Amino acid sequence: KKVVLAYSGGLDTSIILKWLQTEYGCEVVTFTADLGQGEELEPARKKAEMLGIRPENIYIEDLREEFVRDFVFPMMRANALYEGLYLLGTSIARPLISKRLVEIAAMTGADAVAHGATGKGNDQVRFELSAYALNPEIKVIAPWRLWSLTSRTKLLEFAEANQIPIAKDKRGEAPFSVDANLLHTSSEGKVLENPGEEAPDYVYQRTVHPEDAPDAPEMVEITFEKGDAVAIDGVAMSPAAILTRLNELGGKHGVGRLDLVENRFVGMKSRGIYETPGGTILLEAHRGIEQITLDSGAGHLKDSIMPRYAELIYNGFWFSPEREMLQALIDKSQEHVTGTVRVKLYKGLARTVARWSDRSLYSEAHVTFEEDAGAYDQKDAQGFIQLNALRLKLIASRNRRLKG
Ligand code: ARG
Ligand code: SIN
Repeated sequence: KKVVLAYSGGLDTSIILKWLQTEYGCEVVTFTADLGQGEELEPARKKAEMLGIRPENIYIEDLREEFVRDFVFPMMRANALYEGLYLLGTSIARPLISKRLVEIAAMTGADAVAHGATGKGNDQVRFELSAYALNPEIKVIAPWRLWSLTSRTKLLEFAEANQIPIAKDKRGEAPFSVDANLLHTSSEGKVLENPGEEAPDYVYQRTVHPEDAPDAPEMVEITFEKGDAVAIDGVAMSPAAILTRLNELGGKHGVGRLDLVENRFVGMKSRGIYETPGGTILLEAHRGIEQITLDSGAGHLKDSIMPRYAELIYNGFWFSPEREMLQALIDKSQEHVTGTVRVKLYKGLARTVARWSDRSLYSEAHVTFEEDAGAYDQKDAQGFIQLNALRLKLIASRNRRLKG
């Protein structure tokens, strides 16, 4: 038996690693991905080696470009928001991790994959739906749903008994649970569990408090091609480099903080603190460029399917026919979403202040209140209004009649 474990190098996944070896009796392959969480990966290699993993069974990969190019950007084309506010930073990373787990399982002849998500959340669903969609034969081991290490004390005892080093700050309960990648940092649990209490300042990790942000606004220009950001301030950059740069700018100006009570797929409500600085700027800019390049019919149609699309990603159905169908529709809509947007960053806000494109549908000749040189005949509006009013008039007449 061989299992590929999504391994962060942290205490919890180290305990899982040991548990898989000892209690489950299988050979473990570790997979550690750089998704832009801002942590060194080499310590994870050292730790895996120390826990007895053979060097050829340790996989460490930089997936930042693939993450942004093939997951974040396609999602941003839809302006996806879950329940109106959440930019899906954790949700969109899970399918990529599962994809690599399943691929590494195939490469190493493993029959199973394992993850450290709890049995209470969304992440277990996302990891596993993705894995099964990519390999119907794969087995999934979710130790949090299986083992008897149900308290912090039991976990620490197990770690000590198995020579797993415990950092000093990990002896006590962590004050909350964090998940981070290039798109966001999310914090949940413990000190955040009471939604009636404001989150303490120390929860925020990658954005300054908007009140402490610089007093001078800053402008940034983002260029799009077919709905994807390709340059910042005129300089072409890779997808991951663009998000990295926007994170710096957004973080500095306190952009992209969110305190949200959301509905988990498994049924309960949970309260999370999200920081999505670059993603928030990107969403604003993308809507800015769509304003001038998208036709109203196309724009309203894609907006109407957006909540459904976001829910699919939240619920773990990235690798599903319905997500792919909606993606095809969204991608088609982006054919002419090309141009540049200027966004102003100031004290927690990112606002579009200018946009231009050689694909623009905006016609000053038509919209001007000045002389329009025959572009638009105002008399046409008369019949347009009369026909649209016809059924409203019939309803109003009937209502009068009924009232007597
Ligand atoms: N509630 C978010 C989601 O379902 C984040 C979950 C992981 N975050 C965490 N801090 N453990 O996508
Ligand atoms: C977890 O339960 O592992 C994190 C939270 C979630 O998945 O929703």
